[in-house]
Amino acid sequence: THRIIIDCDPGHDDMAAILLAAWHPSIQLEAITTVCGNAPLSHTTNNALRIVDAFGLNVPVYAGAEAPLLHRYAFPAEFHGPSGLDSAGEDLPPASSAAQRQHAVEAIIERVEAAPGEITLVVIGPMTNLALALALRPSLAQTIKQVVFMGGSATEGNVTAAAEFNIWADAEAARMVFRSGVKLVMFGLNATHQTLMRRQDVAAIRAARAGSNPVADIMDFYCGTYYNFAGADKPGAPMHDPCAIAWLIDPTIFELVERPGEVLVGADGGYGQTLIDMRPQDAAHDTRIKNLAVAVKADAQRFAALVTQALSWAAGR
Ligand code: BDR
Ligand code: CA
Repeated sequence: THRIIIDCDPGHDDMAAILLAAWHPSIQLEAITTVCGNAPLSHTTNNALRIVDAFGLNVPVYAGAEAPLLHRYAFPAEFHGPSGLDSAGEDLPPASSAAQRQHAVEAIIERVEAAPGEITLVVIGPMTNLALALALRPSLAQTIKQVVFMGGSATEGNVTAAAEFNIWADAEAARMVFRSGVKLVMFGLNATHQTLMRRQDVAAIRAARAGSNPVADIMDFYCGTYYNFAGADKPGAPMHDPCAIAWLIDPTIFELVERPGEVLVGADGGYGQTLIDMRPQDAAHDTRIKNLAVAVKADAQRFAALVTQALSWAAGR
């Protein structure tokens, strides 16, 4: 089993990632930490609590960074709605529980140090919390088992031609993380654009519960905004964030390569780009720094089956 903390900004695909982790027996979800990203921190924290409460997950939620280190931007309401978790029909009920009093950054440090080498941090929002944790405690780079994250791209961006949203939202934080030496496993757009929530998947989730079905309604909203953006002819909407969890559950769903990488923070349209050095090199003579494994290929069918099963389970709860 994998002991994990999910650091997130829910977020529709964040919700799918949390539910996938909660559903699968090989994942032990020990905490959820939130960050400003898809929506303001108050919203992403509230959304995490609504998810935990609605599905009876019994996982503590810690609120983290309220703003990126340097970057300021407008929240991407066109994808996740103003709440960060808008629904095409019914919403999840209001949260009945509250966030923990401890700050997310302190919780990450405390929990990782209590179990050196055992905790996987799954980062599926901007990397602000992890950067702050590494600033307070650089040794965390060695005590964290690994950081599995959704962000960046080895090919095209989404928020700009070059940059993916999570990295772009706090590129300075991501650069700190990339340079820390922590073991990184990257699920960027080049891989997550292969993993879709298709129309038949939403239909299966809807069929899992007759009558009110907020899980299916929330996925309908997400797919709808994606089709508005990318075209209704698309076979589905990318399920970015669950990739990180799906890989922990079944690494054979993805093909990974080890490559050096850097996060660009300069101007000229490159802000927030992950520059992955894809040049082949003889492994024995390759002296470039490599603490990064990059997903390059996904088995779309098996991925969709896993996520659809998890969301159908949640819908039925
Ligand atoms: C990432 O940005 C957010 O919109 C999603 O939740 C995902 O983490 C995709 O670029
Ligand atoms: Ca996210």
